[in-house]
Amino acid sequence: LFSAVEMAPRDPILGLNEQFAADTNPSKVNLGVGVYFDDNGKLPLLQCVQAAEKAMMDKPAARGYLPIDGIVAYDNAVKALVFGAESDVVKSGRVSTVQAIGGTGGLKIGADFLKKVSPDAKVLISDPSWENHRAIFQNAGFEVGSYRYYDAATRSVNFEGMLADLNAAAPGTIVVLHACCHNPTGYDITAAQWDQVIAAVKARNLTAFLDMAYQGFGHGIAEDGAVIGKFVAAGLNIFVSTSFSKSFSLYGERVGALSVVASDKDEAARVLSQLKIVIRTNYSNPPTHGGAVVAAVLNNPELRALWEKELGEMRVRIKEMRQKLVDGLKAAGVKQDMSFITTQIGMFSYSGLSKDQMVRLRNEFGVYGTDTGRMCVAALNSKNIDYVCQAIAKVV
Ligand code: LMR
Repeated sequence: LFSAVEMAPRDPILGLNEQFAADTNPSKVNLGVGVYFDDNGKLPLLQCVQAAEKAMMDKPAARGYLPIDGIVAYDNAVKALVFGAESDVVKSGRVSTVQAIGGTGGLKIGADFLKKVSPDAKVLISDPSWENHRAIFQNAGFEVGSYRYYDAATRSVNFEGMLADLNAAAPGTIVVLHACCHNPTGYDITAAQWDQVIAAVKARNLTAFLDMAYQGFGHGIAEDGAVIGKFVAAGLNIFVSTSFSKSFSLYGERVGALSVVASDKDEAARVLSQLKIVIRTNYSNPPTHGGAVVAAVLNNPELRALWEKELGEMRVRIKEMRQKLVDGLKAAGVKQDMSFITTQIGMFSYSGLSKDQMVRLRNEFGVYGTDTGRMCVAALNSKNIDYVCQAIAKVV
């Protein structure tokens, strides 16, 4: 049965974790996967999460099956966070939100549902994009192309190219957009440019699928989420996948969601019924713990305020590390201007290093980033930054 099964390549991101774990270099630094570590190199357990878990343990609850679409209080909290509790779109019942197995799960539920409603549509992802976008939509049965996004020569977004590609897309094309903190480049488009993207999506009758895995890591929770409101205001039916992996440091709990904006309440109910079939036939219903923790935090004003504070601290520390990286590279003798690192936003820096340089960093110094040159700035700290700067200086 398995004699012809080929060995698949390692995952370009999570595969690095396996290599990193096996590396015996005592100075090794993992800048591969998008995970935030604190200044001591520790994965944080947020205080708001601990407080919510303590309250849960004080009143232990049995674990029955959740509804197929997840915890009601969780889904409502996601709607409030992503669209605004008082927004017309939420109040009028036009948003269908389901709890998902991380942001990846939200993308997958959306992709499978889209394959039912738009079986012949093509999908466009940004060039470059998160490595898993292409695979998720291809595995859902779509042909996946790309729209221009990053211009290596100017180290910025090729916005004209992006817009031209959207305007040339066939009606019905599904366009995967990064709501904030573009992964992997760290370059977002401006609010005015979003308006032009929305106009193109509307004029060409495209389907926007917004991936928002880093809300709060750019400029703030509301600021990063503002783009969703713009799409809603334009009267578009959109998909939004969201994740609490990073913003709650709950990576292993796989807490995410998919929200779909329909035209009216009746349509939203029909959409929800179909999303539930996708979930039921894939994994039946979501797990309890992570969703319960996030719901407890978001629905309690004190814990919510604590979360916003802790998320803000993560955001600020990443920005400090960006500046330290620029300064450290200069001090280590790197001649080229690396100040672009501070204009990038979110967890990642697209360093511009070649695959060969990234492989050397890994093999000779135990500094892990993706082959595309992406480094997770959120894993730098005051103890490893000098070593990383020295290593980069030796390979560039
Ligand atoms: C990343 O891009 O590193 C993260 O989104 C983690 C992942 O699942 O790839």
